[in-house]
Amino acid sequence: DMGDMGDMDMAGMEHGATTSVADLVTKADGPPDVAVDLVAAQGEVTLASGRKVPGYTLNGTSPGPQIDARQGDLVEVTVRNESVTDGMTLHWHGVDVPNADDGVAGVTQDAVAVGEEHTYRFVAEQAGTYWYHSHQVSHEQVIGGLFGALVVHPARGSRNAADSDTVEAMAVAHTYSGTRTLNGEEGDVPFVAEPGQRVRVRVVNTDNGPTQVWAGGPYVVRAVDGYDLVEPTPVTDRSVTLTGGARLDIEVAVPDDGSAVRLHVGGATALVLGPEGSVAPEVTQPTEKLDLLSYGSPADLPFDVSDPDRTFDYDIGRRPGFLDGRPGLWWTVNGKMFPDVPMYVVREGDVVVMRIHNGTSEDHPMHLHGHHAVVLSRDGVAATGSPWWVDSLAVDPDETYEIAFVADNPGLWMDHCHNLPHAKEGLVAHLMYE
Ligand code: C2O
Ligand code: CU
Repeated sequence: DMGDMGDMDMAGMEHGATTSVADLVTKADGPPDVAVDLVAAQGEVTLASGRKVPGYTLNGTSPGPQIDARQGDLVEVTVRNESVTDGMTLHWHGVDVPNADDGVAGVTQDAVAVGEEHTYRFVAEQAGTYWYHSHQVSHEQVIGGLFGALVVHPARGSRNAADSDTVEAMAVAHTYSGTRTLNGEEGDVPFVAEPGQRVRVRVVNTDNGPTQVWAGGPYVVRAVDGYDLVEPTPVTDRSVTLTGGARLDIEVAVPDDGSAVRLHVGGATALVLGPEGSVAPEVTQPTEKLDLLSYGSPADLPFDVSDPDRTFDYDIGRRPGFLDGRPGLWWTVNGKMFPDVPMYVVREGDVVVMRIHNGTSEDHPMHLHGHHAVVLSRDGVAATGSPWWVDSLAVDPDETYEIAFVADNPGLWMDHCHNLPHAKEGLVAHLMYE
């Protein structure tokens, strides 16, 4: 859970509600296609440079091992907590897993105590770039390194299966004790590729804050939060915002002339794609940003948003008060402070429209568990580009987004800010099926 939010989660809801929700879910049977064993530990993280920082590891490293699955695979991950004193869990960020496997301590399971283990099983139905992380004292454990990347490769022969002439790279951004890294490395991170090669880079932002992504040449945003965009065109002279918890699949072409090309993820870290030993020209950050609201080609949505079954407001505010007995300036949802925020109640099959308004002076990466939502509009301007599916959406000060989703995954789900200290400070709501 969100640390001390855990106890409040339980205080704020009928205990019976959690039990009945868990009972709705049946685990996939049969032998797993992908089986992974992880050991979680607390202590030190060794960065690629050899420098050690305090933190958490999975199988001795942070990021933890990358998990690769193919669409349709039954994934089984067993984690043993060796030494994480507060207990830990694994949440499959962006994967619409059955509720019982969502890994939220205090909501869908108890935290896994030292010496215990827990097994997660889910079918990886949606191809795309995801990540996993602890959901217990998240503002410490995720920031401290208890996470890894999860890639679900498209089923063979499917429409979005990568061309055989495109290679794939990872760029997992994380800041350890003030040091910005990509895949655990500082500064320039080389990725060897042939001249003319196209590289699809799966960029994951595990930090609390947003980062800008840009390349030293034209690039194409292929996917957002695991979902492929329809007919995206090459982008030049623009950066694209990657909010906390979100992912972007970005395709870059390695120059034909034997040089390399930089793909910046923030100012301090870049993937350098080119032949061994090749040099990439420096590239300054573009001043303009790509607007995903109008990027790519429109396509029909798989559900009708014209007459939603539920319309919700998620109004983010801030005011002084008490949280867990502590006085402070806390976040509010629709004017209410946690745990007095009413749950958003849906029935299976409902088409839901949610209006998210940020009435505060900070930006919030809003993350809905268990569902993907499509962006309908921002500040009253309708989306005109490719359907833009999100599980993690940057809502800047004074912005209003309208998003829509189908309630097709029964359970009890968090809908919170992924700037994890904000979640600890009350920016949390829940979606519940009646
Ligand atoms: Cu990435 Cu509720 O978490
Ligand atoms: Cu926030």
